[in-house]
This record gives sequence, C-alpha cells and structure tokens, in this order.
Amino acid sequence: MKIKNICCIGAGYVGGPTMSIIAQKNPKINVYVVDMNANKIAAWNSKNLKNLPVFEPGLSKVVKQARNRNLFFSTDVDKYIEKADMIFISVNTPTKISGKGKGYAADLKYVEACAKQIAKVSRSNKIIVEKSTVPVRTSEKIKEILISNNTHIDFQILSNPEFLAEGTAMRDLEIPDRVLIGGDNTIEGKKAIDSLVEIYSSWVPKKNILTTNLWSSELSKLTANAFLAQRISSINSLSELCEETGADIEEVSKAIGMDSRIGSNFLKTSVGFGGSCFQKDILNLVYIARSLGLEKVAEYWEQVLIINNHQRNRFSKKIINCIKENNLKPQVLILGWAFKKNTNDTRESAAIYVANNLLNNNISIQIYDPKVKKEQVNFDLLNLNPGYEKSLVNFVDEPFLKISDLNVIAIMTEWDEFINFDWETVFNKMKKPAYIFDGRNILNFEEIKKIGFNYFGLGRK
Ligand code: NAD
Ligand code: UGA
Repeated sequence: MKIKNICCIGAGYVGGPTMSIIAQKNPKINVYVVDMNANKIAAWNSKNLKNLPVFEPGLSKVVKQARNRNLFFSTDVDKYIEKADMIFISVNTPTKISGKGKGYAADLKYVEACAKQIAKVSRSNKIIVEKSTVPVRTSEKIKEILISNNTHIDFQILSNPEFLAEGTAMRDLEIPDRVLIGGDNTIEGKKAIDSLVEIYSSWVPKKNILTTNLWSSELSKLTANAFLAQRISSINSLSELCEETGADIEEVSKAIGMDSRIGSNFLKTSVGFGGSCFQKDILNLVYIARSLGLEKVAEYWEQVLIINNHQRNRFSKKIINCIKENNLKPQVLILGWAFKKNTNDTRESAAIYVANNLLNNNISIQIYDPKVKKEQVNFDLLNLNPGYEKSLVNFVDEPFLKISDLNVIAIMTEWDEFINFDWETVFNKMKKPAYIFDGRNILNFEEIKKIGFNYFGLGRK
C-alpha cells in the first residue's frame, strides 16, 4: 500500500521530532501530527521557532523546512485519523499510579483511548503503528479494541518502537543504528511492514531496517532500555566502591570500556539516570516478569532501580553532610535541572530528587538551567512532594548574581555552558569555604586549584 497521508497521535518528545524527519525525508507524504493538548499544538505552530515545545538541537531547522509544506500540527484528531492511511500512536505510557500493577505496570489508558478513537472514526482500511513503548503483546490488545469497535475496516498493526535519545534526537533519527518494525506473519501483515519499510528507506539504508514479529519488536524496545540503564547502575555502583578504595571511577570506567567486547558507551558515572523512560520501562519489565512468575528475573532488573535511587540519595547526603559538618550557610546553587544536556525535558531528573532531599533538610536552593522554565521546576517539585517548602526555592535567570553569598554549588546537568564557565573567577567570588559538587565528588577550592580549573565542570572537559 502506497502511503499518502500519515497521522501521528501525540505531539510530544517522540511524535514531534520523529514526524518532522519523516515529513522532511518524504516530501510527497502529508504528515499530520495531532494532540489533544491545544497549547502544545499552538507551540508547534508558533512562528517563532524558539517557542517549539520540544528543545532539540537541529529540530527547528527541520520544522522550518517541512512545516506547512507536508508537515502539519493540529488538534483535530478525528479529522486526520480518518484522512490517514497510516496512524502512529505516539502517546505517553507512564507507570500506573492506581489499580492492578500500580507503581510498576505501564498505564495503557492513552494508547487504548487512541485505539477506541481510531475504531470510532475510521471509514477506510488503516495501518496502525505502535510508536509508544509498550509491554509485550500490547498490539494484541489494540487489535481487540479496534475489531470489537469497528467490524468494517481492515486494521493492520505494526510495532515500530523509537530508540532516539533526547538531546541527540535529530541525529539519532537521521542516522539510526536500526529501525525496528514488527508485524504479523501474514500476507496483509507483510504488505503493511513493506509500506513502513518504504517510508524509512527514503533515508535509512535497508540493512539497518530490521523486521521481526510483533512480540519481538515490542520486547526488544523495553529490554534495550533496560540494558542501557543497567550499564549506568553498574558503573554507579562501582563509583561507591571506588570512593572507599582510592580507585578513580573515571579511570576504571575507561579501562573497562576499552575492552572492545564491553565498549565505552553508557559507562559515565552520574547522580543517577533520569528521563521519562528508563525507570518506567524497567518497572514495566519487572512487572511483566513477576506476572509470569519469573521472580528471579524480576529481582535482577529491579536492582538496577535500587542502585539508581541509592545513588541519588547518596549524593544528596554528601551535600547535606558537607553543609552540616562545615557549618555552612544552608543554601545551594543548583546548576541544571534538565535530566541531561541539550533538552528541556526534566522528567525524572536526578536534580528533582536531590533538590527535594535538600529541602527536606531545610536547605534553601537557587536553581538555574539554560532551557528549563520556573513553572516546570515548581511543577516537578510539587509532583514529588506536594507540601514542599516554596519559600526555600528560588529560580534564577542569571546563576552567579548572588555568588558571594554562597558556599556550595551543585552541578546537576552537564550543559556545555557549565563546562565553559570561568570557574576560577566564580570560585574566587564565592563565600569561603567554597565547595562544589561536580556530579561525582564534593571538591573544595584548594582541591580544585590543585587539579586545575580546566578539569572542572563535571570532570568532563
Ligand atoms: P510526551 O508526553 O512528550 O507526549 C505524548 C503526547 O501524547 C502528549 O502531548 C499528550 O497530550 C498526547 N496524548 C495522549 N493521549 C492522547 C490522545 N488520546 N489523543 C491525542 N493526544 C494524546 O511523551 P513522549 O516522551 O513523546 O513519549 C511517547 C512514547 O514514546 C512513550 O511511550 C515513551 O516511552 C516512548 N519513547 C519516548 C522517548 C523519549 O525520549 N521521550 C524515546 C523513545 C520512546
Ligand atoms: C534513552 C535511550 O538512550 C534511548 O535509546 C531511548 O529511546 C529512550 O531512553 C527512551 O526510550 O525514552 P534518553 O533517556 O533520552 O534516552 O537519554 P539517555 O542518553 O539514554 O540518558 C538517560 C539518562 O542516563 C540521563 O540522565 C543521563 O545523564 C544518564 N546517563 C547516560 C548516565 O548517567 N551515564 C551514561 O553513561 C549515560
């Protein structure tokens, strides 16, 4: 089937960038990105490209090229569902907060609502593509919903999970390691797979497009994230061991990663991984394993999250102890709120957890992030702790205005801007004794002078 019109339900961090690239690379296909959030759609349509709801390096250039040519953003979900030959479901699949599986299972209510809507509105055959990350066998559930609500239409379901990472999304989409497409092993199923393969083939080499059955595709996405997160927890667990033994975690990480069988990616120690997906996808994997009676498998993966929580708490304690032991003014400047650099996304950012721990110890915080807005910081803190002490929080647009009044800085996100600060001047202006937490250690002025200010900025220069 030659696809002429695509609809993507969900204009978030995945739907927006992914559809922008599909539209850019397939100028003859109309791509309609729809969302029920009118503010978000207005932002995607905003004349000033700085106001796009997602910040990703390179995104605005692609949007500028394709928007209103063959890329459109709209709140008219029904209209574009009906118009499309192929519909991507790219809605959020958060961890359930109530009911069966609470705290572990993925909440599929948004995915299911899309399926119902598609069934209700459709008058012609459609290919439905699961873009959201979902538990294995979700496509079966989607099919059931579609068939039970609409018996006149042939719906083919594909799984096409997304592997982009925020901050590098445009590059990941442009040159993906692989595109994964799962579908039914039937004549119609294979035709549907071919239609999607054709869309990606306009820029992705065929050898990088992997086709599988539906269940393999769904499960591969969850487990790929689990593997990545597991590497981070492994290196973070060793960071504590290094601190006790005098080994240097960065040297150990380098030595491990130079083994070509292991590789160097995802071995950077941190205050713990953040982002909307690693935690929720592992919780979901644990839930699936446990539901199948695979308790040892569940426990194995759950440990990745236990170490991540431990790391966040361990670093919070370091800062709190530093303040108490040195009798410092209980005030910290937090640099960075996004869960990693080059994104405005703050979901599950380690900064939120560390800030909350500081607030619980009556330590006031000033927060600076180049891309995150004050309202988002407030939302994140409220979300974690509805009773948080607002008077202890101050969001600043310029980080060092009151620096002479501060003893402690904590760098929580590795923004390049932070690495490039003139740290020597900052340090000289700080109240003494001055301490800086670089996402790994707490260093004082004298120690940093010895190491050299160039080294500074999360030790990643
Ligand atoms: P998001 O929250 O940024 O966007 C989801 C959007 O879907 C929201 O704007 C919401 O308003 C909209 N939506 C929900 N239900 C809707 C409905 N019934 N009709 C219309 N709009 C609806 O989420 P995201 O980060 O883009 O993630 C989407 C999916 O992709 C998740 O399953 C996630 O696990 C997966 N994923 C995310 C990333 C990432 O980096 N963020 C990467 C790979 C995969
Ligand atoms: C991750 C995966 O990398 C993507 O492949 C996947 O598509 C996506 O999740 C998803 O499903 O949502 P993302 O969370 O956007 O992407 O960003 P990552 O680069 O994976 O970073 C996640 C967190 O791990 C960040 O907080 C980062 O600082 C941390 N991290 C990463 C480390 O602590 N150490 C590392 O070595 C690498």
